[in-house]
Order: sequence, then C-alpha cells, then structure tokens
Amino acid sequence: MSMLIAFYICLTLFLSIFAGTDGYFEQVVRQCRFTSKDLHGIEFIDSYVFNQAEYIRFNSTVGKFVGYTEHGVKNAEAFNSDASLLAQEQGELERYCKTNAAIDYSAILDKTAEPHVRLSSVTPPSGRHPAMLMCSAYDFYPKPIRVTWLRDGQEVKSDVTSTEELANGDWYYQIHSNLEYTPKSGEKISCMVEHISLTEPMMYHWDPSLPESERNKIAIGASGLVLGAILALAGLIYYKKKSSGVL
Ligand SMILES: *[C@@H]1O[C@H](CO)[C@@H](O)[C@H](O)[C@H]1NC(C)=O
Repeated sequence: MSMLIAFYICLTLFLSIFAGTDGYFEQVVRQCRFTSKDLHGIEFIDSYVFNQAEYIRFNSTVGKFVGYTEHGVKNAEAFNSDASLLAQEQGELERYCKTNAAIDYSAILDKTAEPHVRLSSVTPPSGRHPAMLMCSAYDFYPKPIRVTWLRDGQEVKSDVTSTEELANGDWYYQIHSNLEYTPKSGEKISCMVEHISLTEPMMYHWDPSLPESERNKIAIGASGLVLGAILALAGLIYYKKKSSGVL
C-alpha cells in the first residue's frame, strides 16, 4: 500500500488595521509554508497588503524583502539595508515556523482515524445490471484511502463508480463506492478498504441472504404484529370482564 501524503499547510496570522468609513484595509499576513514532516523547504513569508494589494513581502528562501509597488520597492530597499531587521525576519523561520509545524504534526497531521465501513444493497440505476452494492467508509483521517471490490478474490474494475473523498468539515472524510453487478449463486463479493490507520487491508464480505434493510422491514413488521396482538388481547379481556360485570 503506497500512499502519497502531501500536506500543504499555511499558518496564517492576520494583523489588520481598519480605518475610516471608506474602508482602508491594511493587513500583515504571515505564513509558514511546508509540505513534509522533515520540513524540507519550509518557508516563512511575511506579506504587507493595503486594500488587498500586496506591496511588500519578505521570503525566507530569498532572505530579503521584495517590493511590488513604487512605495513597496522604496520600503524594501530601506528594510534590506537594516541587517538586524533582516536577521529578525529570518529568525522567524526557526522561532515561529519550525516550532509550530512540529506542533501541527504531533497534534493533528500525524494522527490517524480508522474508517467505519458499511456495505449495503442499493437500487441500481436502470442499467446493465439488476443489482448494486454500496461500500461506504466514514470518519477516516487522513484523506488518502483505497476502496476496491473483489469477486471471488479477484479485483473487479468494471461497473465501479466512486465519489471523491468528501470532507465532513470536522477533519474527517467519507467516501462511497458502488458496484453494479449481476448476482451469481455461490460467488463471494467483498469490499476491501486500505488506509494508513489500518495495519492490513480490511475486508467486508457481502451476505446476500437478506440485506439489512429487508431485515429491518421484517423486524418492524413483526414488532407491529406483536404490539397489535397484545392490544387486541387486552381489549378482549377488558370487554369480557366488563360484560361479565366484574368492572
Ligand atoms: C520564495 O522564494 C523562492 C525562491 O525564489 C520561490 O521559489 C518561492 O516560490 C517563494 N515563495 C513565495 C510564497 O513567494
């Protein structure tokens, strides 16, 4: 199982000054940009933005300020001639970025959550096959996952459709994969899930005897029947006692 996990994280600190009814808007945006745990190529970017236009930026890879407007260029020249300012900016790469990146990895990025998987029978779209199964994996982290279908141990590639990994919005993801198929007696259909949180691929075998939804319908019907019988019996006893003058 090889999964490429590429994280692209920006720690952003906003420092904003809002002035006047015309809405002049000065922002300082400080970012730490990194893509891997070894922090190779990590950058500290310190941007100055006025009314949404960035006019000056310090980039730790370059080691100095660059101006983007006439005013920015003039200030970049002044800032770059100040060795202690440059040293302070460059120091943020160690002090701020590397410290926080390490915390991000230990607190969030290195964590994993196992998928909860459910295999169910769903109505197929009117198509080539009379049956469709859905394999849903819920609440896993991080995002990369592999969901595949096996028929008697062989991977099935045709008539498989899948959603993307969908973000729940709470750091967890879910994915749904469908297999359209024509059932054959004696075959074994399974959904296989591979994820970094699992030490080995997980197999979920489809039990064609009675799908869960059918079992639920039968259970609900049976409960209704029992409840009805009890009420009828209670009514009958009440009626009998009443008519015999006990009540
Ligand atoms: C910082 O500078 C390096 C080297 O020029 C460049 O590759 C990188 O894209 C710059 N980063 C940003 C965010 O501008």
